[in-house]
Amino acid sequence: PTEKKNYTIGFSQCTGGDEWRRVMLNDMKRELALYPHFQLLYKDAANSTATQLAQIKELVRQDIDLLIISPNETSAVLTAAIDEVFQKGIPVILLDRKITSDSYNSFIGADNLEIGRMVGEAVPTLLKNGGKVVEIWGLASSSPAQERHKGLLEGIAKTPKIQISGQLYGQWEQDTARKVALANLETLREADLVFAHNDVMALSVQRVCQEAGINPLPLFVGIDGLPGPKSGLQRIMDGTLTATFLYPTGGEEAIEVAAQILAGKATKREYLLNSIRIDRSNIKAIKAQSDKLLHQQQDIEKLNQRIGQLNDTYASQKNALYVIITC
Ligand code: FRU
Repeated sequence: PTEKKNYTIGFSQCTGGDEWRRVMLNDMKRELALYPHFQLLYKDAANSTATQLAQIKELVRQDIDLLIISPNETSAVLTAAIDEVFQKGIPVILLDRKITSDSYNSFIGADNLEIGRMVGEAVPTLLKNGGKVVEIWGLASSSPAQERHKGLLEGIAKTPKIQISGQLYGQWEQDTARKVALANLETLREADLVFAHNDVMALSVQRVCQEAGINPLPLFVGIDGLPGPKSGLQRIMDGTLTATFLYPTGGEEAIEVAAQILAGKATKREYLLNSIRIDRSNIKAIKAQSDKLLHQQQDIEKLNQRIGQLNDTYASQKNALYVIITC
């Protein structure tokens, strides 16, 4: 059998600073353990398009065989930089966020337009008599924010009793959401429901409303539905969030698709991951499944570590044996 070639995969992440993207990287690493001939070069652009541009160049200089990227924005400069990589013959996988050109092999992520629509259709079921919705946007120049907004409008279009009474720009971040909420307390005071493009911002705005003594609080709806003690699933469980929508990271799938591309196999243009509405009606079942999955993942990580240790032991014993035989 022919020896497998080693490959270097570059991963340009728009930001590594939040839980959702930490889960994404873990999902990748777990899958990478199945491909010992892959090396991952990871760059975190910390929400800066300028930094991401520089990091893409750096990855190309480091001679990557494939680029996985979550582009910070759909901007022309970032699109051009990815075009350039693709035209060099380096395969490109877009993960979660899009660009405005066709210069990529595959896109992997959930359908944000569809998620926005699901939110829009859920709102009238939560506000039976209609009411005012305040929308907290993610970064307005990023594709998930644009698509979630567009979907929301489509979803509520059939229900004139629901109106969007405010749009605030939280840029996906807890702190930015807090600042814009503090600056728009009157808009929030009038709201019946706050829909934030992610759970982090929903919870941040909710805290501001509580601190401002808004009573009764509006309902809060978010997106992501992460496991963990402070994240979306737990917040549905304790009733803090009324609904959230699962947004899978695609980390595992990105490595699988990378492996197929590097093996010269055909891949699909788009891998759309499923979402689901999570609320009081299904949270128990979903939480139980997610806890079980988390447990299994931890076991896999332990097994991977154990295999690493055994490999080290094997290597050193082989060396020792070699010394004995050749003495
Ligand atoms: C994490 C995040 C998620 C959101 C996604 C959109 O950085 O803000 O909360 O669903 O990015 O790209």
